[in-house]
Amino acid sequence: ERRLEPGSNVRKAWEALMEEARGCTRCDLYKCGTQTVFGEGPLDATILFVGEQPGDQEDLAGRPFVGPAGQLFDASLQAAGIDRSTTYVTNAVKHFKFEQRGKKRIHSKPNGYEVDACRWWQEQERGLIKPPLTVALGATAARSLTGKTVTISKVRGSPLALADGSECWVTVHPSFLLRIPEEDRRHDERARFVEDLKQIRTRA
Ligand code: URA
Repeated sequence: ERRLEPGSNVRKAWEALMEEARGCTRCDLYKCGTQTVFGEGPLDATILFVGEQPGDQEDLAGRPFVGPAGQLFDASLQAAGIDRSTTYVTNAVKHFKFEQRGKKRIHSKPNGYEVDACRWWQEQERGLIKPPLTVALGATAARSLTGKTVTISKVRGSPLALADGSECWVTVHPSFLLRIPEEDRRHDERARFVEDLKQIRTRA
């Protein structure tokens, strides 16, 4: 049985891992972002969410999913009856990659090399937490978790098996939902995301 109180081995290992991640130079993105944004949440979480990479606000706050995508994520979790504080939330890539345009820092997508370089951290996090359910938010997370290029529309709605035998559910990324221009479609896609989360909740 895992013991997760302060001073437990799992917690100590997680704290050491987070500390080590602060100094990560596995790829060049450490030169880009302000800080490493590590995962957060209870170490006995039964659902572990993996996003793509921190955005502008996450990079400044040092916490995952706190900006606009995070707000939509929170609202969707709530609508699905999932309490975020019981879940562990992390990203496939732990540094913010961006292009400077004037004063704005515009998100740029991590490439395959960066996703592969950063996978080690996600695997360590999952190795300590051992979640029965992992949720890939978008294609980058799905690639990090499965090692393959995944078409979301093909795998959505039924779980994939990860190497450790646990379930991986793939759904859309909240940022995709924010970018849909047509209101009707945006509404429908958000509702579908909530339905995915509800289905995931029933498995936890
Ligand atoms: N998008 C992500 O994938 N992760 C975050 O933490 C924020 C936005």
